[in-house]
Amino acid sequence: MHDVVDSLGRRFHATDAATSANDRSQLQAAVDAVDLDTPGVGNAEALREVDALYADNAVWFHHPSYVAHLNCPVAVPAVAAEAMLAAINTSVDTYDQSEVATLMERRLIDWTCGHLGFDGGDGIFTSGGTQSNLQALFLARENVMAGLVGDGGSDPATRPGATTRPDLLSRLRILATDQAHFSVSRAAFLLGLDAEAVVTVPTDTSGRMNAEALNATLLAIEANDQIPMAVVATAGTTDLGVIDPLEPIGEACAAANVWLHVDAAYGGGLLWAPARAHLLDGIGRATSVTIDFHKTFFQPVSSSALLIRDACLFAPTIHHHDYLNPEAEAQSHEAEPNQVDKSLQTTRRFDALKLWTTLRARGANEIGSMLDTVCDLAADVRQLLEGQADFEVLGASDLSTVLFRFTPATAGVEACDELVPMIRRVLFRSGRAAVARTTIDGRPWLKLTLLNPDTSIDDITAVLDLVRATGHGILAGRHITTEGGAA
Ligand SMILES: Cc1ncc(COP(=O)(O)O)c(C=O)c1O
Repeated sequence: MHDVVDSLGRRFHATDAATSANDRSQLQAAVDAVDLDTPGVGNAEALREVDALYADNAVWFHHPSYVAHLNCPVAVPAVAAEAMLAAINTSVDTYDQSEVATLMERRLIDWTCGHLGFDGGDGIFTSGGTQSNLQALFLARENVMAGLVGDGGSDPATRPGATTRPDLLSRLRILATDQAHFSVSRAAFLLGLDAEAVVTVPTDTSGRMNAEALNATLLAIEANDQIPMAVVATAGTTDLGVIDPLEPIGEACAAANVWLHVDAAYGGGLLWAPARAHLLDGIGRATSVTIDFHKTFFQPVSSSALLIRDACLFAPTIHHHDYLNPEAEAQSHEAEPNQVDKSLQTTRRFDALKLWTTLRARGANEIGSMLDTVCDLAADVRQLLEGQADFEVLGASDLSTVLFRFTPATAGVEACDELVPMIRRVLFRSGRAAVARTTIDGRPWLKLTLLNPDTSIDDITAVLDLVRATGHGILAGRHITTEGGAA
């Protein structure tokens, strides 16, 4: 353990590239060269080996030229807590496997509910935003089907022509914009909903949900005798980094009595960001919320939570098993608090310890200020790009993404389109910078996701210089005409 810590400590200072300069065939050969069936080589040798294989070739999120995806450098107290929880190996499924760990996790859930304004709320730590969204939509499906919420509080099964579960399932609809995370439509598929179950709500020009259009979509769904199972608002879209207007969306959902899920996987950290917490005003109207502490609260993967405004809405998750959480005991006054009652997982990591330790070590405001810092940096980068004639910028993020394209006057629109994935690939392969790419309204864009509070505008200027030089290099010699098409 000490050797690993020492080696990593040195690497964090010495690493001079975000990605490995080895290409995939070299990495594959190095992986294949290890014989996993031979007798063990001993702890020290095995760790030296993985240091050379893994750490030497890792993607380093703390490096200033890593600006691709929603990955953060991590708070050191959380890393220490990670080692502690792995060594003790607690499983927070039943109380008899976790004791104080369960109580600590519950305290953190209460703390998060408090910041959301969920009095009487509850929640559970999950493996990530994907799982949190899936469970939120599962709970929405089951509670709506049971007639507890949604559809005016009446039992949907009693409506004309809707007497069977398959019939009801086929009529359930989820409303979200085209900027919602793909885990929403995958959850709809996994939950057995109709292929057309996710209905797109139009956005305004900034990519935020249009609340008036939401009202119209809700009316159209009701008129078609379909059932609005949930509205999914996104607080921090993955590409544009914008927050759907939570207040009017909350109003629309309350008026229609529809489950509102807010996917704040990206933007959830804003709750503790002193300069930007107001951007989440209205989140307390949600029925459920996803927050990924492993994105904007600088926690090591995994650390995510699903929070529910009303604790009793968790009921559909409960399954009793004699060897774990027997039903008879659940009814007794000595019932133990078993987190498995609220989780899709059984054995589950005590990820909450990382968040707990970070909060105690640094305080929520200091971590929130780090998020403010990266959001400020994104605004500065956007301004910088706007002043450069050979770059085009898209939108204005509420958070820390920047979408841009290299658009020199000598290249046509199609050539600039082609440059986007090529620049990303060339930079990634060289190990000099990791930027992402995406497509908005059919047009490709390069994407920076800034999540390192130590990164400076000079660091990003250096990345932009690399993008420019790479773009010119490709235009000068490689398979793209300056007239706008592939050669
Ligand atoms: C808005 C949003 N929701 C959900 C997710 C999924 O989170 P995870 O990767 O933790 O499963 C992401 C991931 O980027 C996201 O941006």
